[in-house]
Amino acid sequence: MSSKVSGLLEKGEEEEEEEEEEEESINPTEVKMSQIVMPCHSNHQQELSVGQLLKWMDSTACLSAERHAGSPCVTASMDDIHFEHTIRVGQVVNIRAKVNRAFNTSMEVGIHVICEDLFCGRHWRVCHAYATFVTQRTNTGKKVILKPIVPRTQKEQVEYSVAAERRRVRMVHDDIIKDLLSHGAIQHADNSAVDDAVAAERTKVESVELVLPPHANHQVTTFGGQIMAWMVNVAVIAASRLCQAHPTLRTIDMFTFRGPSQVGDRLLLKTIVNNTFKNSMEVGVRAEAYQEEGSNRHINSAFMTFEVLDDHRKPRVLPRIRPEPLEGERRFQEAIARKKIRLDRKYIISCKQGEVPLSVPWDPRNQVYLSYNNVSALKMLAAKNSWRLSSEKNKVRLYTLEQKSMLSFRVESEVDVPAQRAFGLLAELSNRPSWDTHYQRCELIHQVDDDDFLYRVVTPSVCRGAVGCPTSASQGEGILQDFILLASKRMPCSHGDPYVIALRSVSLPTHPPTEHYNRGEVLCAGFTIHETQNNMSLISYYNQASPEVIPYISTDIAGLSSSFYHIFCSCSQYLTKNRLQCVSQATNTDSHT
Ligand code: COA
Ligand code: ADP
Repeated sequence: MSSKVSGLLEKGEEEEEEEEEEEESINPTEVKMSQIVMPCHSNHQQELSVGQLLKWMDSTACLSAERHAGSPCVTASMDDIHFEHTIRVGQVVNIRAKVNRAFNTSMEVGIHVICEDLFCGRHWRVCHAYATFVTQRTNTGKKVILKPIVPRTQKEQVEYSVAAERRRVRMVHDDIIKDLLSHGAIQHADNSAVDDAVAAERTKVESVELVLPPHANHQVTTFGGQIMAWMVNVAVIAASRLCQAHPTLRTIDMFTFRGPSQVGDRLLLKTIVNNTFKNSMEVGVRAEAYQEEGSNRHINSAFMTFEVLDDHRKPRVLPRIRPEPLEGERRFQEAIARKKIRLDRKYIISCKQGEVPLSVPWDPRNQVYLSYNNVSALKMLAAKNSWRLSSEKNKVRLYTLEQKSMLSFRVESEVDVPAQRAFGLLAELSNRPSWDTHYQRCELIHQVDDDDFLYRVVTPSVCRGAVGCPTSASQGEGILQDFILLASKRMPCSHGDPYVIALRSVSLPTHPPTEHYNRGEVLCAGFTIHETQNNMSLISYYNQASPEVIPYISTDIAGLSSSFYHIFCSCSQYLTKNRLQCVSQATNTDSHT
């Protein structure tokens, strides 16, 4: 993006763009596309059709992926997209894509879409998306393995680091949704006939497209963007039939291209409104491919949320829907569950870090997003380049980081213990009372999966507000404090990545605050462990303090650093003492994710 743009962006986006501008450097995988929106790209409302936008986004991202791969690539999936603005005829769409991280044969591409009004010179962010592209096999069927991306700026480092966590969410996404839908996450809503309800079958569309050479790359594989565009087009028809007005597409849920489609395929697109809520509706689309002979192949399913805006651009109240029996009723219920998942996701993931409330209620439905938030918050904190060294004693260094209303600490030292062993020991939070005097008790409440755990931690009472700061120097009189923590441990995704143990507060209905304990909260804390030379580890402990704590802490940095120093020494002794591990423990933690 040109540096001129940042000054013209709407408030809120400005800061983000300024940060980017500071670090701007030419990224070899970056590809930019600018298009002026012509009537042929728009609907009858003179707005750019989302299908066309998706085609442009997919092409830009594909060119970026292919630039990195040096060979043809296909779209494997596209994460949830939320469209913040519509774009009108005459305005310019600026799309920028770059590869955030390459894994083996797949890579994550980040896509920014900005709308520009040429006449008033303003810019708006329209959406931001992440797509995954996979290299196509060679003619001899060999996989093409990608070279790694080397992040060069702080922002690229954050994207690179968090991309590993996004990939993890992506890989489990379909299973999680299936699981939630089949295990009673659905709360039965009243779908009994409402007099003025619209029969769902009225919104049903079945449409076919023939895949021609212009719809495909030179390897004759259909462009993912083209399929998405066809899917959006039929979904718009279904949504319009329901509201008999012009619908606006707000979100598309994450979706996956299950298998390729090629020139000559017929693409069958089936769509129907699954459910309507007060101001929005969910439209589902299924895309299947077939040849003259042979059975249909399931290519893709997508779920889209539409609104209908009134003259003041406010969402209109929508009519209720009467689902078809059986399959329609199932989808009606599943749409309710997906809406809840979407809201949780938006609440936890889309908020800027620091805006996510403390102690979000944990439940199986939002677990994957809370873990993502937990790990990505720590990775983002660790990637900041404005850490300042505050004190150093016997090679234990205390760094501080001030950002707006946040004050964060990092204590760091090298320990003569292999990184994997240190990870195993530190990830076992129940052991912490044996080396951290501020952890009086730590009990495992629930093991969510192999890498995520819920704990209740009891610490001595600390001065009011020394929230989540287990090494605070200023212990006070009075009742004990307890914390409900989500601990997420992550092995390195590839060589050079740290081991990560992230901690954040959640709330649990089974463990409400009691009068016997002050309920404390941890915003973001945890460890990163890097392998260093001679089989040693660089251990960094992070803790982000919330605004109300800062006055208490900042007046006692000396006490704080002494406390951090003692705890860290004790941690280091604990690790060294337990350096040796039995073979079974070693093999348990041997497989990298
Ligand atoms: N989202 C993101 N990445 C995914 C994915 C998903 N839903 N499913 C698989 N992948 C990644 C894997 O992580 C793996 O990456 P890695 O090599 O970096 O570790 C890579 O894809 C290959 O996975 P693999 O298990 O070997 O292959 P697969 O049998 O799961 O096939 C595709 C994955 C994407 C190749 C296959 O589903 C496909 O061909 N889809 C159609 C793609 C296409 O043609 N798109 C254009 C529109 S039709
Ligand atoms: P599911 O039925 O579990 O939602 P599918 O992948 O079969 O998953 O379909 C995705 C969506 O596509 C459905 O939710 C529905 O909205 C739409 N759809 C599927 N089949 C049809 C059909 N025969 N007619 C109209 N729409 C359909």
